[in-house]
Amino acid sequence: MRTILVVGGSKGIGLAIVKNEVEASSIVSISRHKSGFEHKNLRQIELDVLADDFPEIEKLNSIIYCPGSINLKPFSKLTEDDFMNDYRINVLGAIKIIKHYLPKLSLDNESSILLFSTVATVLGMPFHASIASAKAAVEGLTKSLAADLAPKIRVNAIAPTLTDTELASKILRNDKMKEAIADRHPLKKYLEPKNVADMASFLISEKASSITGQIIRVDCGIVSLKL
Ligand SMILES: NC(=O)c1ccc[n+]([C@@H]2O[C@H](COP(=O)([O-])OP(=O)(O)OC[C@H]3O[C@@H](n4cnc5c(N)ncnc54)[C@H](OP(=O)(O)O)[C@@H]3O)[C@@H](O)[C@H]2O)c1
Repeated sequence: MRTILVVGGSKGIGLAIVKNEVEASSIVSISRHKSGFEHKNLRQIELDVLADDFPEIEKLNSIIYCPGSINLKPFSKLTEDDFMNDYRINVLGAIKIIKHYLPKLSLDNESSILLFSTVATVLGMPFHASIASAKAAVEGLTKSLAADLAPKIRVNAIAPTLTDTELASKILRNDKMKEAIADRHPLKKYLEPKNVADMASFLISEKASSITGQIIRVDCGIVSLKL
């Protein structure tokens, strides 16, 4: 059985990935609080990736790092601390996890690392200066690491558009906002966590064995299409 580390597996996209994979894989989920979801193949560990020591895991096939932020403010209101905090949770947290667990990743050509970016790195949007800067760094990390770790370990990132999770709850705060956000997308919808989890499941699977160094945009058409 494969072992998958899902950092941020307690809710949102990470929990949807856990649910996708848990029947066929052994899952270690790290988050500050446990989820209510339980399964015999799931081990949940409570810790803060930015502050705590990491537990030993014997062997891994995939590392998925989900923690992120949506800190939207006009540039004039964004402080240096805002930029640093976004960088810490989106980039440094991933680097800490990867550095710690890289020696545990199996070198059997079926190992992979998966990170998360956002559509805001290629679609300039007001109020996104801090998160877009941090996620652009995640994309740079994805590509550089993919080169460092080829041919044994694949590294990719998913860049989703707005996804209905707790993180996006301030934006998707009522039916009117939900309708307006859906209408802005060429496919007239935003994402559910399962839509993103399905792409994650593909990217860590053998079916994606020829894909590395890619930023896959799951975007309901908003980045590439103008209708
Ligand atoms: N939702 C969107 O609209 C959207 C759009 C574009 C990109 N993304 C990106 O997609 C990724 C997943 O987003 P999401 O919406 O699923 O986020 P989410 O609902 O906030 O879930 C984040 C997960 O990470 C854990 N986490 C957060 N900080 C942590 C820390 N310091 N230490 C350990 N665990 C921590 C959370 O659990 P605890 O709180 O219990 O620690 C939770 O399990 C993020 O990188 C995000 O930037 C999301």
